[in-house]
Amino acid sequence: MVKQWLAHPLLRGLEVDDPRTTTVRRQIIQDNRFLRQIYEEWYASLAACLPVGAGHVLELGSGAGFLSDAVPNLITSEIFWCEHIRVVVDGRRLPFATGTLRAILMTDVLHHVPDVRAFFAEAERCVRPGGIMAMIEPWMTRWSKVIYTRLHHEPFQPQTPDWEFPAQGPLSGANGALPWIVFERDRAQFEHEFPQWRIDTIRPFMPFRYLVSGGVSLRALMPGWNFGAWRGLEKMFEPWMKTWAMFALIVLWREDGQGNRA
Ligand SMILES: C[S@@+](CC[C@H](N)C(=O)[O-])C[C@H]1O[C@@H](n2cnc3c(N)ncnc32)[C@H](O)[C@@H]1O
Repeated sequence: MVKQWLAHPLLRGLEVDDPRTTTVRRQIIQDNRFLRQIYEEWYASLAACLPVGAGHVLELGSGAGFLSDAVPNLITSEIFWCEHIRVVVDGRRLPFATGTLRAILMTDVLHHVPDVRAFFAEAERCVRPGGIMAMIEPWMTRWSKVIYTRLHHEPFQPQTPDWEFPAQGPLSGANGALPWIVFERDRAQFEHEFPQWRIDTIRPFMPFRYLVSGGVSLRALMPGWNFGAWRGLEKMFEPWMKTWAMFALIVLWREDGQGNRA
């Protein structure tokens, strides 16, 4: 009953993998001022990581987002055709020439890619030395594990030995724990398999704000005006993010094969 009431009315009757869901989610983000501020903060952190110099910037899985407001000339993309994207792109087969990208940016996408090894290899080919791959992804902590396994609709399987999961729909197929598995639990394996990707930053953050925002599936749970108060509360939790974070900013840079950045 409560769950039914909390579900966003605009999404009623829509399957999560239906492209119309993505269109509606865009509307939901724009209407929910609290949530929109979360995205703006994510986008500012991604934009701040961008290296200068040659090459295009690709956003993978743009979906309902609006990163192009923060990153000029961004190539927005999605695995299926939807409004506000420039190209249809599957992360496992990037339609770009070798070394032509300066950066690949993502919010909440990596954990939906069923074969991340194929994506990392393609990203290594397309991103030029000195370029980056930066993402905001769910992160595994004692707190987030409870939330993601009990309250979230996406699969969250930190115990699986595999980096792959069965390909289903683009949004329904997922393992929310995958970024943590690859970059934290199996970090040595990642560094062994993809030595040209150097992990620069893993910054766990945002324990509560996304949760109380209602996200892209629920009604707005918080008015926009108290965003600052929640940000202040989260700041107090800064020393304990390893226990409380629900997301992480992950930044990797592409070396040139001899350990150099450019
Ligand atoms: C949770 S949504 C995030 C959308 C948007 N970035 C946002 O933050 O609102 C995950 C996105 O990843 C996309 N996706 C899933 N598999 C993909 C793949 N193999 N290549 C590119 N994008 C993919 C989905 O279509 C979906 O739009």
